[in-house]
Amino acid sequence: MTNNTTNIANSVLNGRLLEVEKLGIRFGGLQAVGEFDLHLDAGGLYGIIGPNGAGKTTVFNMLTGIYRPTEGRIVFKGKEMVGEKIHNFTAAGVARTFQNVRLFKNLTVLENIEIALHNGVEYGLLSAFFRSSAMRKKEEEILDEASALLKRLGLLSYSEKKASSLPYGLQRRLEIARALATSPTLLLLDEPAAGMNPQEVDQLAQDIRWIKEEFGLTVLLIEHHMALVMEICDHITVMNFGRTIADGAPGEIRNNRMVVEAYLGKGGKF
Ligand SMILES: Nc1ncnc2c1ncn2[C@@H]1O[C@H](COP(=O)(O)OP(=O)(O)OP(=O)(O)O)[C@@H](O)[C@H]1O
Ligand SMILES: [Mg+2]
Repeated sequence: MTNNTTNIANSVLNGRLLEVEKLGIRFGGLQAVGEFDLHLDAGGLYGIIGPNGAGKTTVFNMLTGIYRPTEGRIVFKGKEMVGEKIHNFTAAGVARTFQNVRLFKNLTVLENIEIALHNGVEYGLLSAFFRSSAMRKKEEEILDEASALLKRLGLLSYSEKKASSLPYGLQRRLEIARALATSPTLLLLDEPAAGMNPQEVDQLAQDIRWIKEEFGLTVLLIEHHMALVMEICDHITVMNFGRTIADGAPGEIRNNRMVVEAYLGKGGKF
């Protein structure tokens, strides 16, 4: 093995799933994110916090191929991902949910999952014309797989309901289910608790921990809900104005003067 291959093999062996180094992006004159580093070990539960406009969602957009960074590296499972298309990030095992729920609201719960599963299937042109038996078989498999996933997430009884008719907390859960349909190893959650009532947030904390174990995931979440982040994350990165201003365990972050000031101004307290 060359040195380089050895290093990559070692980093995978050591459980390092994602290495982000000096990541940056400019929009015209605005450096939305700069010098951003992130190291995720397989199986961890990580958080990104920071005031509005800090660059958190922009980081997710770079980690999923929606934005192409202008600087830096994204190494996922030992492979450089900068410049890859969105579907290659998905195929490599990165899935996400969005800050605002993005479901097909007029479709059923089941259909929302089926569409996510269909995206991974390539049909030949001819089978699309003739609805071949191979295609029908594939559709049956997708139906079974979608139902099984909904069952695992406690959503099976809602299968035939319109997505928009679900209570908000369950719409969020359905979005997570849809992300899981692509069989990810890294799940990115953008403000999963936004708009939830306190009971829903409690349930979400349990759900995230359970889903991580059940599906063998590494989770990275963006959140403004500080109690949730502090409770469930092993490690937190704090951003402000596109930069990392602190990172560490929840206890360290809670007592970090720069973090408290960024959120609450001088003299503030969590
Ligand atoms: N496509 C774009 N074109 C121009 N500017 C952008 C674009 N995307 C993001 N930005 C800018 O980048 C900065 C960071 O935005 P981003 O959405 O990442 O913040 P955020 O930390 O997710 O904030 P919030 O907590 O409000 O969701 C903002 O100034 C935003 O206006
Ligand atoms: Mg955001």
